[in-house]
Amino acid sequence: MKLSLKGNAPEEIQADCLVLGFVEGAELTAAAQAIDAASSGAITRMLASGDIETGIGKTHFLHNLPGLAAPRVLAVGFGKQDKLTLPRFDQACLAAGKALRNHRLKSCHVCLHEVEPEKTSAGQRLRQAALAVHRANYLYTVTKPLKDDAPVPVQSASFQGDDADLQAALEQAEGLALGFEKAKILGDLPPNICNPAYLAQEAAAIADKYANVDLEILEEDDMAELGMDALLGVSRGSANRARLIVLKYSGAPVEQQPVALVGKGITFDSGGLSLKSGENMMQMKYDMCGAAGVLGAFLACARLQLAINVVCIVAAVENMPDGDAYRPGDVLTSMSGKTIEVLNTDAEGRLVLCDALTYCERFDPAVVIDVATLTGACVVALGHHASGLMSNDDQLADELTAAGNAIVDRAWRLPLWDEYQSQLDSPFADMKNVGGMPAGVLTAGCFLSRFMENRRWAHLDIAGSAWKWGGDDGATGRPVGLLTQFLLDRSG
Ligand code: BES
Ligand code: MN
Ligand code: ZN
Repeated sequence: MKLSLKGNAPEEIQADCLVLGFVEGAELTAAAQAIDAASSGAITRMLASGDIETGIGKTHFLHNLPGLAAPRVLAVGFGKQDKLTLPRFDQACLAAGKALRNHRLKSCHVCLHEVEPEKTSAGQRLRQAALAVHRANYLYTVTKPLKDDAPVPVQSASFQGDDADLQAALEQAEGLALGFEKAKILGDLPPNICNPAYLAQEAAAIADKYANVDLEILEEDDMAELGMDALLGVSRGSANRARLIVLKYSGAPVEQQPVALVGKGITFDSGGLSLKSGENMMQMKYDMCGAAGVLGAFLACARLQLAINVVCIVAAVENMPDGDAYRPGDVLTSMSGKTIEVLNTDAEGRLVLCDALTYCERFDPAVVIDVATLTGACVVALGHHASGLMSNDDQLADELTAAGNAIVDRAWRLPLWDEYQSQLDSPFADMKNVGGMPAGVLTAGCFLSRFMENRRWAHLDIAGSAWKWGGDDGATGRPVGLLTQFLLDRSG
């Protein structure tokens, strides 16, 4: 979808649909006032009659209002002014985007950023609205091409206004939208297409596109030489060979320590010999959403040419049962030298990540953020709205939390106290790969923390937030927003 700004009077704008926001108990926005005046009070009358509802996320198409160049108006409710926060603003904008996508329109002109949630700038609102409309417009077509009667994505969206701040905000929205879209497509692709080699190809495509992006792919032989036996242990049961994908973006002088983003890229998680049940296995193509998230944020960063250095590392591996697969009881030696007693081959994410984290030490990163669909326990703890955030550094945790809040891609911090570490004690190795039932989300975080002892590090568990569970909606693209905002905040 093409995004642009248009500063003309709303009633004169040629588009298939004008999109106006309405807040209960607030004055009409400037655009709504203009449309009301041009249509001799039609808006005021429909608000009074209840044909326009102001409840949050309510959408109504109004056809052929007199005095407008556009043939229809989409009226979008934002609820009560005193409840209007940025998350609720985002919710209403997403609802508007869905209504547009489902209505077979080619173009729209959006004035939703004239609605003002507390403590927000016009640029921030425009960016949020543009990103929401773009995200809602996504339609998966790779293995199911568009049919004549299906909803059609909107081709172009213009936004009211034309100043330099809004232009900058729109450009950020374009970068973010590109990153979200990439993460959603990768997440939604089936595991017989999106395997480790496919993820490597996608990384190569990014490296080809941007002159200041470099790529290195490690094959299994390379990883064996480095001693990555934890990662390779997981991969052994699969016919698809693993890859360690390393992308480097140079947007700042070489002396500047990079931000390292590390993604769990289990392209399918059967559980291995600790096989999942059919029900639990059904969604496991999404187990590479950590990889999709870091690749999406990396792509957004390259597109926006941020003044920062970033290293993106993806552990791309498939977890399958086989005669040669790793077993419960095996002891693996990780690249760090630490030994791990595998008690459950379904706790594989931490095994591939620990070697990827050790590998990223060679870049001497300023901070390391890993992203993973790591535990079902995280979903029990936080549900689908927040990603789980764990960190050994308060300032880093605060920066990530603030970034998520600023773009409504939120994370909630959980405690990585030392007391939890003993759940990983093993009589046969330095640690077990499972910590039992209590606080499964934290013992997974504790496991990873043992490989980042001398580094500012944070872990995002996105098991609940990376895709819409049980629905047809698929991958959300999260946490591309949080990560990109974090990079934006750190770039000069
Ligand atoms: N990929 C799963 C975690 C997961 C499960 C994400 C369901 C989203 C939905 C991970 O590899 C896994 O299987 N974790 C186990 C860990 C356990 C064996 C300690 C889990 O959460 O059950
Ligand atoms: Mn698993
Ligand atoms: Zn997994």
